[in-house]
Amino acid sequence: MQHSVLLIILILLVIGLVLEVFWFVSVLQSIAGGAPFISLSRKRAREAWAAVGLQPGEVIYELGCGDARHLVYACRQYLVAGVGIDISWWPLMWAWLRIGLSGMRRRVRLIWRNIHKVNLSNADVVYLYLGQKLSDSLREKFRQELKPGSRIISVQFPLTDWQPTNVIGDAQHPTYIYRI
Ligand SMILES: C[S@@+](CC[C@H](N)C(=O)[O-])C[C@H]1O[C@@H](n2cnc3c(N)ncnc32)[C@H](O)[C@@H]1O
Repeated sequence: MQHSVLLIILILLVIGLVLEVFWFVSVLQSIAGGAPFISLSRKRAREAWAAVGLQPGEVIYELGCGDARHLVYACRQYLVAGVGIDISWWPLMWAWLRIGLSGMRRRVRLIWRNIHKVNLSNADVVYLYLGQKLSDSLREKFRQELKPGSRIISVQFPLTDWQPTNVIGDAQHPTYIYRI
């Protein structure tokens, strides 16, 4: 009896340790990619989606989607299709669960990859909440791949030297909207 209790405790400890290692590697993946996983507040994300006038049937890309909570919201609320890209598999695992549980598998696709390696030519709207350096490194990609009329939502960090069509939020919490 005592032995089986000890065995169960040991198994639980090993599972906990493995999960911690997964989580730690995942944090390193995010940092190496250029931005750690920090989720934006629900209020700010919703204001950002509202600011770009999403139309049913449009395609939105979230670059560094994390657990995809904002992507799933936008897809459901505005009847759009979504693509979430993230380099880190810990938040992506939660994203995958979230999408399954919310019955959105047909409309939301997840890609485990570096943003720089995903073609964006299909996007009507691109959303990013990344660091300044990573956001700026995407400017040339946006210029080359995004179609005319597509919109970019850049939370907190402006695209250096680009003129936003709109800025929402306050001075401490700005969100920049661009149109190609
Ligand atoms: C600040 S979080 C934003 C999470 C979510 N988009 C939000 O608004 O709440 C940045 C996310 O970008 C991901 N990331 C960082 N560098 C990346 C890269 N080069 N390619 C893909 N994803 C990246 C991180 O793993 C993290 O989940």
